[in-house]
Amino acid sequence: MIHPIVKYGDPVLETPGKRVEKFDEDIQKLVADMFESMYAAAGIGLAAPQIGVGLRLTVIDVSNGKVPEAKMVLANPEIIYAEGQQREEEGCLSLPGFRGYVERPQYVTVRAQDATGAPFERRGEGLLARAFCHEIDHLNGVLFITHLSMLKRDLIKRKIRKLKKAGEW
Ligand code: NI
Repeated sequence: MIHPIVKYGDPVLETPGKRVEKFDEDIQKLVADMFESMYAAAGIGLAAPQIGVGLRLTVIDVSNGKVPEAKMVLANPEIIYAEGQQREEEGCLSLPGFRGYVERPQYVTVRAQDATGAPFERRGEGLLARAFCHEIDHLNGVLFITHLSMLKRDLIKRKIRKLKKAGEW
């Protein structure tokens, strides 16, 4: 089932998620819904809070459905190693229409559990490293605009307030 993506302004996006404890049928269904919702929105990552579920669960596919091995489920993910730096433009499905340059590590290794609860480690480079950081931020209630300058962040917030007033957000 495709869920609507929660937009900036909803408190669920700025609330740290709870750990996934049970890897039951409900979680399998949630993961399937998250992939479906992410592909429908043409995203490369989606965190559970973005469909209104306050759990430490995220799905990532930097190939956007083209490479089956790129499909990843990360429950309770943690960054265990980060190295180097990259500065690229970043966006978020919860902030449609807004982008900004964010500095992230070039290499990131995460430790997480898959959809069945099995632990794994995965090293990502470039875009994948960026996706790991962006999605794990979501699970901590942090949005990418937090990493922008105060000036740029306030500009985006002001534009969103206008959109909200106009009923376009
Ligand atoms: Ni995002």
